[in-house]
Amino acid sequence: MAQRDFVMISFHIVVAVDARNGIGKEGKLPWHLPADLKHFKEITCATASMVKKNAVIMGRKTWESLPEKFRPLPNRLNIVLSRNSDLRLPEGVEKADSLKTVAEILNRNPFKDNIEIAFIIGGGEIFKTALRNCLVQKIYLTRILQDFHCDTFFPAFDDFRMAACSSHYTENAVTYCFAEYVTSSRFTSGPSVTP
Ligand SMILES: NC(=O)c1ccc[n+]([C@@H]2O[C@H](COP(=O)([O-])OP(=O)(O)OC[C@H]3O[C@@H](n4cnc5c(N)ncnc54)[C@H](OP(=O)(O)O)[C@@H]3O)[C@@H](O)[C@H]2O)c1
Repeated sequence: MAQRDFVMISFHIVVAVDARNGIGKEGKLPWHLPADLKHFKEITCATASMVKKNAVIMGRKTWESLPEKFRPLPNRLNIVLSRNSDLRLPEGVEKADSLKTVAEILNRNPFKDNIEIAFIIGGGEIFKTALRNCLVQKIYLTRILQDFHCDTFFPAFDDFRMAACSSHYTENAVTYCFAEYVTSSRFTSGPSVTP
């Protein structure tokens, strides 16, 4: 597919990290922060266009970590990354065997002109691949101030700068804030992705 055939869609990350950039433990989120889940829903569902939706892109392990009753995430195109050709997903959920395939899915009908932002929502492997491929324009990062002794981590993102930060909130004895990081230093959208 030629580059001119691609719609230039924006890729953003949404993530919650602990004090050591931990994001998960034993396949799950090690904290329960309802206000952060609400924040996640608001960010990933919001569109400027009345007729477009957003996409949420996640690794197979993150997909499986979602309670069955909450998946697929409603009102968003769900794309699950897996190299397993036998993986079965519910109708309407797209499977991709690489980030290049994700770009191809987003650039074909009916999604081509109907998806506004592609949100990469985890987990660790997918965040790492997306950042390594310079694919991400913006990171919505919930920074949790305590250490949850995680086994999965968010990679370094030194070439992003903080563009916004909220005040601190405390919920279930956990203190956190909402930050936004942006990059403008390099090519961050389109098909230049490797598996
Ligand atoms: N704090 C947060 O914001 C947040 C967000 C999301 C997830 N999490 C946590 O993160 C943990 C899961 O992260 P994880 O790193 O273990 O797993 P993951 O990134 O969710 O999924 C990994 C799987 O994705 C597939 N995959 C990875 N790279 C791929 C590529 N380039 N092309 C195609 N498929 C690819 C593979 O699936 P196959 O094995 O099927 O091939 C791989 O096993 C959980 O603890 C979860 O709760 C935290």
